[in-house]
Amino acid sequence: MGSRGCSCWLLSLALLCSLAAAKEQYHEFVIRETTVKRQCKSQSIMTVNGQFPGPTLEIKEGDSLIINLINRGRYNVTLHWHGVRQMRTGWSDGPEYVTQCPVRPGQSYRYRFTVAAQEGTLWWHAHSSWLRATVYGALLIRPRDGTSYPFHVQPTRELAPILLGIACS
Ligand SMILES: *[C@@H]1O[C@H](CO)[C@@H](O)[C@H](O)[C@H]1NC(C)=O
Repeated sequence: MGSRGCSCWLLSLALLCSLAAAKEQYHEFVIRETTVKRQCKSQSIMTVNGQFPGPTLEIKEGDSLIINLINRGRYNVTLHWHGVRQMRTGWSDGPEYVTQCPVRPGQSYRYRFTVAAQEGTLWWHAHSSWLRATVYGALLIRPRDGTSYPFHVQPTRELAPILLGIACS
């Protein structure tokens, strides 16, 4: 085997390793009405899994997400992964009547996409009517294993994401 065959073999090995490192995460996002208390007031709002703000998604660059949206609410809904470049997975982007029909009450929809070549703190939110006012959460994309943040000085600590929102009364 010449040196060319050898480098080719190394390349395939590197490719295999990077493929093995990428993970797939599955989450169930159940949309439902929940009573939440903020600033001494209780009100009924739409939530994901009863949480407000919704669940924080934490992945590494190169990972894939499968989100099974189950609509147990009273309204149509879709979810949008804000800032995620959908590479040949446009049907997972979420804007209602643009890339998909709204998910009706009692129905479900599976979003499936890979987050590649991007890192940072993004968020996800409902992309239908006013549901986006309460149905949202953080999406953290960390560098994949073996790589680091693209800064000269590496971060010394990490803070929990802060999401600002309004709950109208
Ligand atoms: C809900 O979505 C369906 C399509 O999935 C649509 O036909 C219907 O008109 C929508 N309902 C409302 C109230 O927007």
